Amino acid sequence: MDEAKSASGMFDLRTWLERVDQLGALRRVDGASAEADIGEASDLLQHTEDAPAVLFDNVPGYRSGFRVLVNALGSIDRMSVALGAPTGLTKLELSTVWRDRILKLEPVKSVEVTDGPVMENVQRGDDIDVTIFPAPLWHPGDGGRYLGTGSYDVTRDPDDGWVNVGTYRVMVHDARRLGYYISPGKHGRLHRQKYFDRGEPCPVAMVFGSHPAIFLAASNEVPYGVTEYDWVGGVLGERLEVIRGPVTGLPIPAGAEIVVEGYATDTERLPEGPFGEWTGYYASGERPEPVLHVEAVYYRNDPIILGCPPGRPPDELSRYRAPLRSALLHEELLKAGVPDIAGVWQHEAGGSRMLIVVALTQRYPGHASQVLHVAASCHTGGYAGKYVIVVDDDIDPSNLEEVMWAVCTRSEPAESIDFVRRAWSTPLDPRITPARRAAGDFTNSRALIDATRPFEWRDSFPPVNVPPLAARQSALARWSYLLH
Ligand SMILES: Cc1cc2nc3c(=O)[nH]c(=O)nc-3n(C[C@H](O)[C@H](O)[C@H](O)COP(=O)(O)O)c2cc1C
Repeated sequence: MDEAKSASGMFDLRTWLERVDQLGALRRVDGASAEADIGEASDLLQHTEDAPAVLFDNVPGYRSGFRVLVNALGSIDRMSVALGAPTGLTKLELSTVWRDRILKLEPVKSVEVTDGPVMENVQRGDDIDVTIFPAPLWHPGDGGRYLGTGSYDVTRDPDDGWVNVGTYRVMVHDARRLGYYISPGKHGRLHRQKYFDRGEPCPVAMVFGSHPAIFLAASNEVPYGVTEYDWVGGVLGERLEVIRGPVTGLPIPAGAEIVVEGYATDTERLPEGPFGEWTGYYASGERPEPVLHVEAVYYRNDPIILGCPPGRPPDELSRYRAPLRSALLHEELLKAGVPDIAGVWQHEAGGSRMLIVVALTQRYPGHASQVLHVAASCHTGGYAGKYVIVVDDDIDPSNLEEVMWAVCTRSEPAESIDFVRRAWSTPLDPRITPARRAAGDFTNSRALIDATRPFEWRDSFPPVNVPPLAARQSALARWSYLLH
């Protein structure tokens, strides 16, 4: 490999891993099985706040050095390392750092190189075998091994050439075929459908393991029309080096761990699922889904699968998505012209989608209602939501107890709750009725809860009996000894 053309360290999973190791946040395990042990341990790790990242090696039945990394983003510090932010932040501080970055963000275009570590090993033709990688059975009820969880698919819009990078789960059917599920409305699915509508196969590159910042971008609501590679380049202030995929021409990170390229057709579908999903259920069951015919496999020496299996929230996935998605929603509210947003939180308990809270400094009649409707319908808040709550700016939107206190005391149930019907949901929504599921109706309703003091009489609303901040600080200084 030409050293001058090697992948930028910034976008390499291994340089990120080194930093995490230096923080003392990486554990190594030998000999855990892909059939049960890795999934079992991951479930424990991802449901324990601040649990370490774990690298599994010497997986029985697989080559030594073929590794699986889990719970990579299970702490705020590890996310901060991925995003080039300082360590030691709280989740709210990280979200604020993010919002400031996103607001000023200028995408930085990736740069094409001709070689990189991902090309250290190449399989073509009869050599192709994706089962050499230790794809775990993540949950006991899964219908197969999922190589793609902390992964992403690269596709190109056949009309305008826009490249999208999106995280969609990938199941192993056999040595040369991968099944992948994309929910309706997602960018990768819109691309795929365009090819199918023309009677053409859809080219796809799938990346299983790369710098976590790319995975974070791929699994969050980066605006339509923006390539996630360039967005991450803007975030980190560095150009991502990509190689033009020899089969599809799609750009793949030169420092990626494992990449496959191939085509899906409209004519072939195989059963996909069930899979333990982010809502905490196996809601979408098993359905026929398109299949990627793998035409090439590339991988680094001693490749690392980045694993991020969803679980019942709050889990790793909801914890790491909450700060970023909250920042994205805040930005979208501002861009929609809604002033004086004091804070936003997409709650971990709702998988960072189903429970949105926005804190507001009310300025005019209808301001709170405007917030509710925009938050429920914009790109970041639109998909798979359930409850949107607006609170006054004296409430910390990330603190569920404060939020519920506001709901209990400042809302009047018969007056303060509105509904949006036939909103964008997903087959993954466990509450879609069997009849609507059978009819292909994957919409749901949204409850919009106004838990602010009603604007017109906010000044005569009974005062809260919480002492002012200065008084609480003084009480803490004088009386904290009583607590110990
Ligand atoms: C671990 C993980 C797995 C995911 N799996 C899927 C999936 O199987 N299908 C899907 O449509 N979205 C899935 N998502 C959500 C999408 O990645 C997310 O909605 C993203 O914004 C999609 O990219 P797009 O906006 O470019 O379509 C997953 C997210 C994560 C973090």
